[in-house]
Amino acid sequence: MALAVKIPGGLSAESEAELRKRLPGEVELDLSPEPSTDCEILVAGRPDAEQLDASARLHTLIIPWAGLPPSTRELLLERPHLAVHNLHHNAAPAAELALSLLLAAAKGVVPLDRDLRRGDWTGRYESYPSLLLEGRRALILGYGAIGRRLARSCAALGMEVDAVRRRPGQVDEAGPARVHGPEALRELLPGAAALLLSLPHTEKTESVIGEAELALLPPDAVLVNISRGPVLCEKALYEALSAGSLGGAGLDVWWRYPTSEEDRNHTAPSAYAYQDLDKVVLSPHRGGAYGQKETERRRMAALAATLRAAAAGEPLPHPVDPAEGY
Ligand SMILES: NC(=O)c1ccc[n+]([C@@H]2O[C@H](COP(=O)([O-])OP(=O)(O)OC[C@H]3O[C@@H](n4cnc5c(N)ncnc54)[C@H](OP(=O)(O)O)[C@@H]3O)[C@@H](O)[C@H]2O)c1
Repeated sequence: MALAVKIPGGLSAESEAELRKRLPGEVELDLSPEPSTDCEILVAGRPDAEQLDASARLHTLIIPWAGLPPSTRELLLERPHLAVHNLHHNAAPAAELALSLLLAAAKGVVPLDRDLRRGDWTGRYESYPSLLLEGRRALILGYGAIGRRLARSCAALGMEVDAVRRRPGQVDEAGPARVHGPEALRELLPGAAALLLSLPHTEKTESVIGEAELALLPPDAVLVNISRGPVLCEKALYEALSAGSLGGAGLDVWWRYPTSEEDRNHTAPSAYAYQDLDKVVLSPHRGGAYGQKETERRRMAALAATLRAAAAGEPLPHPVDPAEGY
């Protein structure tokens, strides 16, 4: 039997070809913007109520990235009959960027580069703070598609690795990390030279790292956030870095974003002056980006895998629970 799939946002010709070549014949794609009255699967990140209610046969929403926007969550909480799934096609580039930020922050790469561009070699002769990671411990908060990649990278650097996830003890845990539940966090922080945040932003993870947690880290520790800004307390992190009680930070995600195209070249990412701190490496939320074409190719491959599972009546990957917000 055919499986009717609606993608109201449409696709570029290239993405459509990428998707179609991976789909079995029984998947029927509808790429028109009009709401469909007979689709079973809707592919959209921010659908409106009309799109969700147009078809009595609709049973699944696929959000074509990792996350659940608040507006979509609200609509889904009112429609508990709909299953929701994410795509995690950009975990590899996000993990690679997190690793770049970790190394850059640990080694002072950005300020030393800036100095040498001015002919200033002082960093070579005066001991510039530089964290040696080998033999130290990494703590990864969120042990999913990104976190597991980070664990392998940190282990390859010679680090011991701990990870925290919601439900430790799952079958996907094979790897170098010792895996713990959220209750172990405070006990683990004092041993962590690198704290890497790769968990979703939900009510439970909002400000999961605040003043008390930062105070437990060793003073030379480096923190990396590849997740979402609000999992970290903006003020507490700024104060810890300014006071010298934290070694450094690499931040890809923030608390403030441009709200229009005109704002894109003059929006500070925080209410605090992170840009004035040498110890911070700033990155404009581009963890998932690795070239538009390749991103879309991988997104289509992940979408096709999910639709193939649906067509075969198999469980779909990456379920999202709107009540949990993740
Ligand atoms: N910077 C970027 O451009 C970029 C790109 C991609 C993703 N992201 C962000 O990164 C997040 C993680 O991505 P992913 O692909 O690795 O997701 P994922 O595979 O779903 O992994 C998320 C991990 O977080 C854990 N987790 C959830 N709630 C938790 C809690 N309350 N306490 C401790 N751990 C918790 C999960 O534990 P269980 O497995 O036990 O449930 C899971 O191990 C995404 O949600 C997104 O916000 C950012």
